[in-house]
Amino acid sequence: MISKKVLITGATDGIGLETARRLKSLGHEIIVHGRNLEKLKKVAEELKVKSFQADFSKIDEVRMMADSILKEYEEIDVLINNAGVLKTPSPKTHDGYDIRYMVNTFAPYLLTKKLLPVLKKGRVVNLSSAAQSSVDFDAMLGKVEMSDFEAYAQSKLAITMWTRHMGNSFSDNGPVFIAVNPGSFLGTKMVKEGFNTSGNDINIGVDILTSLALDSEHQVNSGKYYDNDNGKYSAPQTDGLDDAKASEMVGLIESIINV
Ligand SMILES: NC(=O)c1ccc[n+]([C@@H]2O[C@H](COP(=O)([O-])OP(=O)(O)OC[C@H]3O[C@@H](n4cnc5c(N)ncnc54)[C@H](OP(=O)(O)O)[C@@H]3O)[C@@H](O)[C@H]2O)c1
Repeated sequence: MISKKVLITGATDGIGLETARRLKSLGHEIIVHGRNLEKLKKVAEELKVKSFQADFSKIDEVRMMADSILKEYEEIDVLINNAGVLKTPSPKTHDGYDIRYMVNTFAPYLLTKKLLPVLKKGRVVNLSSAAQSSVDFDAMLGKVEMSDFEAYAQSKLAITMWTRHMGNSFSDNGPVFIAVNPGSFLGTKMVKEGFNTSGNDINIGVDILTSLALDSEHQVNSGKYYDNDNGKYSAPQTDGLDDAKASEMVGLIESIINV
């Protein structure tokens, strides 16, 4: 087996933490990210791995984290953009954006863009969801009040759209980009808090993230969306196939985060 270097964001809880444990147990080199220093230190000590801290609701922290990673690594094989938020006591970032858009869509976009030189021809796995709702550009700009679920569902279609956009842009001269719904209602903190249910086995999500990170069969699927609720590559919500809208959206994200 060839050992891969895998960076997992949001590895302090839920699917991210369990995937970090799984990949480490399979002999891969893991790099973990978290926002909470105490939780992050605990995970890094348990797994004996390198860690990076950043609150993804603050875009400058994402930028600084990416710079620190670039200083330390010449090559990363897999980036799993797993960190995500659904419910939050304060839905706006300090600069007025919806926190779901910032954490679930903009932050992973910036991290991925900045890490492209070390990702080379590796893989980027983006956590989407079965919850997908048409992206409203005013909402992206923080000008529309939304329910937690609507904001989450828009942010998840948005990451699915930029995954496809990146996949189309790079074809075979860059990483492979895959968006994934890891399975609905997996029993994590997010699901327990958001839906008041103990949820399904987290390993459903861990299994598919592990496969998407490592298995060669996914190499030909750049830009696609894997829906683990039906165990195959599937079409996202219809807007997710609108390449013109995706290009416009990516332009807007780049202007918001200043890349
Ligand atoms: N569970 C499901 O059924 C399901 C279904 C579809 C998609 N997903 C997606 O799967 C991913 C993992 O979710 P999960 O269910 O495992 O939820 P979780 O247990 O709540 O874990 C979320 C992770 O993201 C981190 N995070 C949250 N806000 C952050 C911020 N502002 N900056 C940096 N990191 C932050 C959390 O850090 P803390 O440990 O500090 O909270 C945690 O490590 C998410 O993208 C989610 O949308 C989950």
